[in-house]
Amino acid sequence: MLKGKHILLGVTGSIAAYKAAHLIRLLVKHGAEVKVIMTPLAKEFISLLTLATLSKSPILVDFFDPENGQWNSHIDLGIWADLYLVAPATANTIAKMAYGIADNLLLTTYLSARCPVMIAPAMDVDMFLHPTTQENIQKLKSSGNIIIEPREGQLASGLEGKGRMEEPEIIVEKIIQHFTAPATLQGLKVLVTAGPTYEPIDPVRFIGNFSSGKMGYAIANELANRGAAVTLISGPVSLKSESANIELVPVTTAQQMYDMALKYFPQCQAAILAAAVADYRPKHAVSQKIKRTDDSLTLELEPNPDIAAELGKRKQNQILVGFALETDNHIDNARKKLQAKNFDFIVLNPANEPHAGFMSDTNRITIIDKHEKVETFATKSKQEVAKDIVDRLEKLLKP
Ligand code: CTP
Repeated sequence: MLKGKHILLGVTGSIAAYKAAHLIRLLVKHGAEVKVIMTPLAKEFISLLTLATLSKSPILVDFFDPENGQWNSHIDLGIWADLYLVAPATANTIAKMAYGIADNLLLTTYLSARCPVMIAPAMDVDMFLHPTTQENIQKLKSSGNIIIEPREGQLASGLEGKGRMEEPEIIVEKIIQHFTAPATLQGLKVLVTAGPTYEPIDPVRFIGNFSSGKMGYAIANELANRGAAVTLISGPVSLKSESANIELVPVTTAQQMYDMALKYFPQCQAAILAAAVADYRPKHAVSQKIKRTDDSLTLELEPNPDIAAELGKRKQNQILVGFALETDNHIDNARKKLQAKNFDFIVLNPANEPHAGFMSDTNRITIIDKHEKVETFATKSKQEVAKDIVDRLEKLLKP
């Protein structure tokens, strides 16, 4: 059930580290590829040999291998992983993660990981209940991490209470659930627009924007995971679509995105417009490179077609979902767009917050529907945000 999935397991210095062996066995049994990072203290609790044998991969502890100097790249590990599971997670590691301290490989990898992160705390009851630990856990939750709550029970200290790491079987079950959503959208076709558009000025220059496409691609993946047939019309991005259920239609300009959206929309039951479409394009794109002179240069711009407004006019019984990226008057501006473009709901995200918007791996959204109902969500990874958006769409498609 986890075939082809790359799971990175971070093990910290808790007595529960012995459970990492069982966790790895279960993950491998379900077909996952596992790599393990340990903190230096974790080595005292369970042997490298045990975990390396079970994961069929050398265990990573240091930034580089002291024998041959080979660099263990936290960036490559973070990109390789489909999921980073930190289990067991001590109070110390949780605190460091919450505050961005990066003094070992497990922590630097956490900061550079682009995938969802699950954290399974394990500690003594008083450490767990301490307000500082609780605050740190809240902080991690609100930046999009998934916390696997510890259990009540007998602890290594002899005390009774909450702090036992969740059992490996349950953790693996949660991981399987995370990757395999039920095919609730089977038989439906959904159009998604994503990424920026580039509007040529001359053969080597364009007007564009900082959209990374991450939000739109996460939505397309989530729809595809639930069995929908997705047409993903994407501006230029450095992402890949990950599912056989996604038909990728690459475009460059707003006009091309408009043409493709109009072509595919009639066959779709819904469209989610996550693209950051350029509102204007140069009126005269020239065929030769513009040369530098000492004079100032004026570019005349003309408006691009508004894809969302046009689909809003043409929609029959389809659900239309738009985005609003705002720097000010967030709710008011989003409401105006919702009405003007005939959306069924609009996803508002702030453009001027550190963990939200264009380049970020996380987002903080508010959904406003056409009945003026406003729902605000916590900051989460874009994959988790995509689930919230698709959940809402699913309710409208299957009331
Ligand atoms: N949109 C679109 N085509 C355009 C412009 C926007 O499909 N030419 C869509 C976006 O994908 C998004 C929604 O419309 O779903 C709102 O986009 P936004 O750029 O925030 O709105 P604009 O109407 O362009 O308003 P402004 O840029 O003035 O805030």
